[in-house]
Amino acid sequence: MLKQITGDIRKIFGSYEKDLTCMEGSLRELFASNVFLIPLIGRYLIEGGGKRMRPLFLLVSARLAGYEGEDHISLSSVIESIHTASLLHDDVVDGADVRRGRSAAHVTWGNQVVVLVGDFLYANALRRAVSCGDVRIVGALSQAVTSMSEGELLQLEKSGDVNITEEDYVKIIASKTGVLISTACRIGGLLGGVSAEQEEALASFGLKAGIAFQMADDILDYVAGQENGFGKKLGKDLEEGKITLPLIYLLRQAGLDESAEIKTILEGSPSPKGLDRIRELFKKYDAVGLALEKAREFLKEAKAETSVLRDCPERQELLALADYALQREF
Ligand code: FPP
Ligand code: MG
Repeated sequence: MLKQITGDIRKIFGSYEKDLTCMEGSLRELFASNVFLIPLIGRYLIEGGGKRMRPLFLLVSARLAGYEGEDHISLSSVIESIHTASLLHDDVVDGADVRRGRSAAHVTWGNQVVVLVGDFLYANALRRAVSCGDVRIVGALSQAVTSMSEGELLQLEKSGDVNITEEDYVKIIASKTGVLISTACRIGGLLGGVSAEQEEALASFGLKAGIAFQMADDILDYVAGQENGFGKKLGKDLEEGKITLPLIYLLRQAGLDESAEIKTILEGSPSPKGLDRIRELFKKYDAVGLALEKAREFLKEAKAETSVLRDCPERQELLALADYALQREF
């Protein structure tokens, strides 16, 4: 799990290792069932890894808030299992066959089984949260899943829409990705009994850091494509109909004729020649650079939110976790 992680962030994972190991055990328990398929798929998903960033946001926030009980472990596994359930559903919705370098679960078990395992996991996670006895935490988790579903639906509504605005794009990624990280940070604060102002600061920090993470992912979709022969395949997102920030900026920067040309290329299934042309325009207008700039702005805003939190090592850890969003190879 630590393989892809280096530097400061590795140190942070190291100092939460004990809690993260307990979190893994708790995650495994969330897949416990007499229905054979549930633990079977659970094992497949848990072995598939994942960086466990979301539980870590909760664990750091709880420590920052001075929490000394035990519920942070089960609640961090609740956050990770909601994330896992959402990815099970997302791969079905996106028709994506690969997740974390392996076959997506639905390739092996089919859509019906995988959607239902996602439902089970989500419901079981909420049940676990209820047992912690804090209605504010259950409310925040339910609100997060509501928002994630809305984000995914808005994304579908805007699928292939070259006129999508930057505002709609941010709304989508805030809902589908930002809100769960925000909730992880909020729950950490709630556990430790921080003030209402600090709770909101933690939630806003998580939301903005989550937006920066998703923007970085959307940028990487183009950059990674470039390394693997960008001209042949302009990234998975475009294939899935997702018009993300680099393309929104390209359409904004390009002249009337060029943006009309891009729109024509994107109508229907773009030819390799059409994709080559888009690649050329991406370079001409530095659309990736502009999108990175926007992600940096969100990151800066995220960090500024923490100013009302007490100055302590955990606050620095939160900042380092947020920084990780843009520390990948662009
Ligand atoms: C990945 O986005 C998907 C999400 C961040 C959220 C998915 C949310 C739902 C399906 C609704 C909530 C449902 C439940 C049961 C909790 P992406 O497709 O851009 O990223 P990817 O490239 O990793 O697939
Ligand atoms: Mg997807």
